[in-house]
Amino acid sequence: MKIDSKFLDLFINATEKAAIGASKFIGKQDKISADKGAVDPMRSELNKIDMEGTVVIGEGEMDEAPMLYIGEKLGTLKGPKLDIAVDPLEGTKFTANNQPNAFSVLAVSNKGHLLSAPDTYMEKIAIGSNLPKNLIDIDFGVRKNIELLAKAKNKKTSEITACVLKRPRHDHIVKELIKMEVKINFISDGDIAGVLSVIGENAKNDIYYSTGGGPEGVLAASALSCYGGQIQGRLVLDDNEKIRAEKLGIKDFTKKYNIDDMVKGDVIFCASGVTSGDLAKGVRETDNNYEVSTFALHKSQKINKTITNIYTK
Ligand code: FBP
Repeated sequence: MKIDSKFLDLFINATEKAAIGASKFIGKQDKISADKGAVDPMRSELNKIDMEGTVVIGEGEMDEAPMLYIGEKLGTLKGPKLDIAVDPLEGTKFTANNQPNAFSVLAVSNKGHLLSAPDTYMEKIAIGSNLPKNLIDIDFGVRKNIELLAKAKNKKTSEITACVLKRPRHDHIVKELIKMEVKINFISDGDIAGVLSVIGENAKNDIYYSTGGGPEGVLAASALSCYGGQIQGRLVLDDNEKIRAEKLGIKDFTKKYNIDDMVKGDVIFCASGVTSGDLAKGVRETDNNYEVSTFALHKSQKINKTITNIYTK
């Protein structure tokens, strides 16, 4: 079933209002206020939409987040049943430090079509479109995956570029990539943009290879699915997190989620820039207005656009 095209602008409005809210805290060295600055307007705009929305990826689980928690009902409850994944502020650190690539993001599917992932880590590997299905696999290891990808892309392994989130936990990945003479583009945070850097004609990277947030994995998968890209993820869970995951219906803790396990059918994806970055320009404030840019996708409508809207203060 397709999501009605009238919803796209309503969701864009929600990420844009969230971006404006967060932008008030750019450079203020206050991650918590920046996040709250995005959460409040996003929630209030989503609650105006005629839908029976449910948060499946949110600010946390019910007992730990006061707003936009997993399971929270959103909208007027008059309208279609939709599942909503939100990250009101992806890049809290970027915002607090006035660095590029902070944005407000959400994805929407029909009910039951998005994986409800707990706020835990997820191992992720992602590649772009026009590649054989299930080409790579987390369990193949770095060397085999890079070799398979290079072969499929008709490149030498030394011509492959990999995006890696710079964390000590990825030292073994980096070591292997260096051995194979793969070019590495490190990111310091923000792995939704990292994953999405593998899409498009002039993709910056051939592969994303790191462990980041589970929610960010599902959000990135939503956008990737509009391009025919691929992602595989596996949750990283300690004992306490296993209990939390179980509450969300996850039974197999070692399951490798392919893109079709994370996102099914039609999807809307909106990312509105807070600070300028790879996906969208940041909020521009003038005396009377806010100018906000959004990267928006609607799979069934084949919509892929970047737009700018002006809001009077
Ligand atoms: P926040 O904006 O919510 O802080 O997330 C930033 C981020 O870099 C994500 O993009 C990424 O998935 C996660 O944090 C990585 O977590 P960690 O910093 O713990 O390695």
